[in-house]
This record gives sequence, C-alpha cells and structure tokens, in this order.
Amino acid sequence: MKTILVAFGTRPEAIKMCELIKELKSRGCFRVKVFVTGQHRGMLKQVLMYESIMPDYDLDIMKIGQSLSYITAEVLRGADAVMTELLPDIVLVHGDTSSALAVALCAFYRGIPIGHVEAGLRTYDRSSPFPEEFNRAAIALIAKYHFAPTSEARDNLLSEKIAPEDSFVTGNTVIDALIKNIDERYTSEYARLASGKNLIILTVHRRENLHKLEGIFRAVKRIVLEHPEVCVIYPVHKNEKINITAKEVFFSCPRVYLTETLSAYDFQNLLNLSYIVLTDSGGVQEEASYLGKPTLVLRNTTERKELLSNSCAKLVGTDEEGIYSAMKEMLDNRDEFLKNMRKADFLGCGNASKIIADILEEKLRN
Ligand code: UD1
Ligand code: UDP
Repeated sequence: MKTILVAFGTRPEAIKMCELIKELKSRGCFRVKVFVTGQHRGMLKQVLMYESIMPDYDLDIMKIGQSLSYITAEVLRGADAVMTELLPDIVLVHGDTSSALAVALCAFYRGIPIGHVEAGLRTYDRSSPFPEEFNRAAIALIAKYHFAPTSEARDNLLSEKIAPEDSFVTGNTVIDALIKNIDERYTSEYARLASGKNLIILTVHRRENLHKLEGIFRAVKRIVLEHPEVCVIYPVHKNEKINITAKEVFFSCPRVYLTETLSAYDFQNLLNLSYIVLTDSGGVQEEASYLGKPTLVLRNTTERKELLSNSCAKLVGTDEEGIYSAMKEMLDNRDEFLKNMRKADFLGCGNASKIIADILEEKLRN
C-alpha cells in the first residue's frame, strides 16, 4: 500500500485539504498520514476539531510575531524528521504558504514526489501577494503533479513549461467544503444580528496590508455611519496587530460586530447571507464569488484573475478613500453590478477532491 503524506499548517490549507484527506482515506488503497506544521495554532485546531481530523504529526511551531524565516526553517527541520520516520511515497502540499514551501523543499531534497494542490495561480508580481506568489511558483518548479483549480491556472503552468501530462484541471477543493457546509436554513446569533440589514462581511489579514489596516477600517466605519441599513460582521484574524487595530478603530461603532474567528460552517453560511463581501483573502474571494456575492478585494492585484474577468470581484486597493468610494458605489449600484456578474461556477462543482484522488490512484498504481 502506498503512503501519502498530506501536509499543511494554516487555516485555509486545512479547510481546502480536509475533504481530500477524507476522500483519500475512503479509497482503502492508500495509507494516508496527516502532518500539520502548526504554523497556525488556534485557527488550525478550529478546523481540525470541526472536521474530526487528528493529525499523525504536529510540529506545533507557532509563536507570536513569527518571521517568515523562522517558519520556513522550523518546518524544514521538522519535516525532515517526519519524512525520515515515515518514508512516504508522495507528499501533498497546498497552495502558497511558508509551510507548503518548506515541506515541498524537504520532499524535493529527499527525492520524494510532490503533489501540489491549487497549483498555477499567478499574479506574476513577486511583491503581491508576498511572499505567497514566490512560494507557489517555487513549488511548481519541484512538484511532480500539479492540480490546477481552473483551466487558466493550468495554462499558466503550461506556459512555464510544466509537462501537460503532469498537470490537471481539478476544480478547487474549497468548493467541496463550501457545498458541504452551505445550509439554506442556517440560523445563529450572528445571522440574527444581521437580520433585516444589508450584511457586509469583512476579513483582512495579508502581511502586505498590516500597515494599511487603519485606513481600511476607517473606510468601513464611514460607510456604516452613513448607511443605517448596513451592518458588518468581521471575524478578526488572530494576528495580534490586527486585533488591536480593529478594536481601536471600531470601538463603540454601531452595527460593526467584531467576532472571534468563526468555524468554516458559520463563516461560509454568513457569506451566503451577505450583501457585499470586503476581503483580502484568497479563499474568501473564491467562496463569495461562487455564492454570487459582489466581492470587493482589498488588494492591487489578484492571482484569481478569472474572478475579475467574469465580474465576480473588483479590486479596490488598500487606501481609505479608494475603499470608501468603491463601497459607496457598490452599495448604490449593486443591482447593476449583479446584472453583469457571473457566479464563479468555473471554480469547481464540489468534486475536486474526488478528481485528485482518482488521479493519484492511477499514478501511484503505475
Ligand atoms: C499565513 C499565510 C497566508 C495565508 C494566511 C491564512 C504564509 C507566508 N502566509 O499568513 O498565505 O493566507 O496564513 O490566514 O504562510 N496567529 C495566531 N493564532 C493562529 C494563527 C495565527 O496567534 O491561530 C498569529 C501568529 O502568531 C502570527 C500571525 O498570526 O504572528 C500571522 O500568522 P502567520 O502564519 O505567520 O502569517 P499569516 O499572515 O497568517
Ligand atoms: N474562514 C473561517 N472562519 C473565519 C474566516 C474565514 O473559517 O472566521 C475561512 C473561509 O471560509 C476560507 C478561509 O477561512 O475558507 C480563508 O482563510 P484566510 O482568509 O485566513 O486565508 P487565505 O484564503 O487568504 O489564504
């Protein structure tokens, strides 16, 4: 029986890998081992507990204010010990995090094939997202199998001379998780807070936006104060800097509800109830666009370019004035925007994990 080591370290990777882990385990023909780096702690545990996934290995490296070099060095060292003990036949990593890069590098040094889930997204700007653009492109250089979520992502890989027979369009596994979680009868205390209001969901966490937080929050506050019909639910990332700034700017601001990070179940169902989504997150852009929610992206560029070309999302940058005017315009012209918008059905239809598992079954058999 072939051994597959599935490795990740952060919340979004966990959300996007859990369905794949379950699918691989259900096949009965693989020995599947789960390796978490612990780049995130609370936010990772929240997903693993909800999904009832117990890691076989946990490096538990997270420390407050961790640097990129610290994460990469600790994961590289720890991954080497795990691979020495397990001798996996293949290692699966996801996306663009420091955990994914360091685990992939370790597998590469040991001559173990790498499967890269969510491969091929590109901005072709190394400074944005930073350092994720580099991480994802670097993993492509050493991966054996490339699981691209869309045909555009696979085209990027082909243009970089990745072999066509090693790259596959699979859909995005986040849609597997989303479809499983969406419940049209969903209710909760958060949903009740938003009842009768135009709900805006806000998330912010990118490293390159940490010095822009105040302006972003001030723009949201101005909009809320001018629009009594609007309320905001903002689950604040556990990064301490974000927490402190959010509490300062939104202190006593009516109809802005700061919450702890929510379970993916609660969060995705709130997205489904929302009117507009304001985010710098990769995964949230995808989920909101799949649900057909007008999405304003707090960045100057995105590696999910199809979301722009299909009018699912709009880049609004990170400056206060720009965000304020884009939100105002969206609130005033939302119906017009929706008329031109296509739901992001090109991201997948809930079977990406199954497609990836089918490919692995065939490849590992040979
Ligand atoms: C990382 C990923 C990013 C991903 C994001 C998801 C890299 C380079 N970046 O960025 O691609 O979009 O995760 O959220 O890998 N923290 C906690 N508790 C937690 C999680 C984080 O306190 O459960 C704190 C950490 O101590 C750290 C800070 O948040 O100081 C930032 O976390 P880190 O993983 O270093 O970077 P992210 O910005 O989260
Ligand atoms: N998410 C969550 N709880 C929250 C906010 C977001 O479970 O309170 C989920 C969301 O559904 C999405 C993922 O976290 O699947 C996105 O993670 P994040 O924004 O941290 O990282 P990115 O996608 O930008 O890498």
